This record gives sequence, structure tokens and C-alpha cells, in this order.
Amino acid sequence: MRTVAWTIRPASSKLSQSLHFIHSSFHPPQFSSTAVIAALQMSPPPKKASVNCGFDDLRPHIEQALERACEFGSGCPTRLGEAMSYALLAPGKRLRPALVMMAAECCGGSWEDAMPAAIAVEMIHAYSLIHDDLPAMDDDDLRRGRPTVHIKFDEATAILAGDGLLTEAFSHLSQQIKAPEKALAAIRALSLAAGASRLVGGQADDLSAERDPVFAQPASPAVAGCQDETLDWSEILDDPRLGHLESIHRRKTGALFSVSLDLGAIMADASEPQRESLGNYAASIGLAFQVVDDLLDYTAEASTLGKRTGKDAGRGKLTYPGLLGLGGARQKAQELIAAARCEAEKFGDSGRRLRLLADFVLERSY
Ligand code: IPE
Ligand code: IPE
Ligand code: MG
Ligand code: MG
Ligand code: MG
Repeated sequence: MRTVAWTIRPASSKLSQSLHFIHSSFHPPQFSSTAVIAALQMSPPPKKASVNCGFDDLRPHIEQALERACEFGSGCPTRLGEAMSYALLAPGKRLRPALVMMAAECCGGSWEDAMPAAIAVEMIHAYSLIHDDLPAMDDDDLRRGRPTVHIKFDEATAILAGDGLLTEAFSHLSQQIKAPEKALAAIRALSLAAGASRLVGGQADDLSAERDPVFAQPASPAVAGCQDETLDWSEILDDPRLGHLESIHRRKTGALFSVSLDLGAIMADASEPQRESLGNYAASIGLAFQVVDDLLDYTAEASTLGKRTGKDAGRGKLTYPGLLGLGGARQKAQELIAAARCEAEKFGDSGRRLRLLADFVLERSY
């Protein structure tokens, strides 16, 4: 019988436990807390990424554009601006902005023209992470290897920093995209994706499911399906919770992946068949990304992932490993990535980055 190593660390566990999130493709984190610095000094040397994500050459351009976007105007209070920059410039993987640029490129456009849309998506993503980590939501103290915004600053500042980034995203689109019809199309697409029926709706349902006995999952990994050999698949596939889980994941996470590809297509004046293929690709990697996120919560270490692990089952989150077991969830992610690769193949050589990124989504360890 397969056994699975796992640990649950309560949200209240202190930062000093493990704060040595290191990855060579990220900028070195700038830590301010002495506990964090001490933990960092004890950590092993940076590891090289084993999977090529397909956009290492774009990453410096994304980072520079993010820094330039951190001019929030003279009326923005210093502390608020610092909190917004802290969240936006923290060492994230930058998958969503890269997807905007990759989509534009593979439809014959330039990634430079797609940069304003790429930055706006990362702003929405950063805001969603700040709010996701709040005590009223997932109550996390570690994000991207650093204290979360409400820990580093305070809760009110974190809420306002999220509000600020959400709004700045649309301001950025309206000011930086020169063609008015493209700016309008981008604003429309991003507002739909980030809105009440997609990202925010998915987050709301994610939290409701956590508290609803109908969706409750046992907190023990053995009962939650980690020992796959004991599972009755026919029963699982009929489980109504599976459809609800898919809907949550497609909205809370998939929507931002989908709109990233769509924004690239808008900026590049993509053809209808190109947009359809990008849409199919995005739907698959978006769901796969959250399935893998669920898996990593069971299997990864906080030091690698840059955020706490072992929390989803403890909070009673509805997750793929919780319903399908680790093997079933892994199989689901593999199927989705195979489908995404098929769509990327349709772009021939120019779909190479999309194929690499799909592989990265499956194989990533952080
Ligand atoms: C984290 O997304 C939130 C989820 C949708 C699971 P990422 O794993 O892309 O976060 P960063 O940007 O790299 O920190
Ligand atoms: C959150 O999903 C997705 C967002 C919209 C932020 P999770 O709650 O699983 O993301 P992590 O694990 O905290 O990054
Ligand atoms: Mg969450
Ligand atoms: Mg969370
Ligand atoms: Mg998660």
C-alpha cells in the first residue's frame, strides 16, 4: 500500500519555522525580518530549475515593466504604495504575464505590444493573492517566500493594497494601450474574468465549500483518498462534488489563465481559429494549474513552494487530491496537459513556448 508523507502546519505557525524559499529564476527576496534572514542563512544553495518554463528570456522584461508600473501617483500614501509594490514585485513565477506575451507572439504580434496587458493581469493576480491570504480567507503568513502583506504591514493596509492593485490594473490598460478599441476590449475581457462570476465568484465558492458539510472532506489523508488503491472509481466519478470543484477551480484560477491568452490574442489581432485554440489551451492549463497547486499542498515543502503546505485538507478545502487521491489528481493533471499540448501543436513552431509552459505546469515543484 502506498504511503504519503505529509504534514499539516496550522496557519498560526510562525515564520521562523521555514522561510527559505529559494529559486534561481526568481529575484533574491529582500527580507526585513531578522527571523527570516536567519532562516535564509541556514538554507541550502539555490537549486536550478529542472523544467524549462519557456519564457526565461521574457522574465527580465516583465520584471522591469512591473517596476515601472509601481508609480501610483503623488496622492498614494507611502505605506500603501509600499504594500502594493511589495506584493507586485515579490518573486512570483510570472506565468500569467508570460502567457499574455506568448499568445500575442504566436498569433503574429509582438510581445512588447502585449506588455501593458501582461502587467495588468499580474496586478490582478497580486491583488487576488493578498486577499486570498487574509485571515478571513485562507489565513496564510507566507507567500512567495516572504511574509504575506497583512503580516508585513497590517490587515487594513493589505485590504487597501489589494483594492489599489485591482483598480490600477484597469487604469494601466486604459492608459498604456494606445488603440482605443483594443483598450476597451482588454478592459472588458479582464473585468469579466476578475469579476463576480469568475475569479471572485470562484473564491467565494471555494470558501463556502470549506464551511459546508455537503462538501466536507475528511481531514485525514488516508480517508481523503491518498491511498489510491482503495478507491472506488465509479463512485468517485459520480460524486457531485467533482463538478462543483471543477467549477470553482475554473473560475478562481482558470479565469485568469484564460483571459491572459485572450488578452494576447486581442493585442495581436488574432484570427478566430487562433483564438479558439488559445481558449482551449487556456482552459486546460488553467484547471491543470490548480489541480497541481492542490497536489503540491499535499506533497511539497514550504521551503520550496514559498507558501505554507498541508493546509487544504486541514481547512476542509474541496480539492482534487481530496476527492481523487494523489494518483487520480495527478492523472487528471496529465490528461489536461496532454490536451493543452495538442492545442499548442496547432501553432507549429510558434507554439513552442506554449508547449514548454504546459509541461512546466505539470512538472513544477514550486
Ligand atoms: C498561486 O498562483 C495562486 C493560485 C492560483 C494557485 P502562482 O503559483 O502562479 O503564484 P506566483 O505568482 O508564482 O506566486
Ligand atoms: C487561490 O487558490 C487562487 C486565487 C484566486 C488567489 P489557493 O488558495 O489554492 O492559492 P494558494 O495555494 O493560496 O496560492
Ligand atoms: Mg484560496
Ligand atoms: Mg490560498
Ligand atoms: Mg493552494
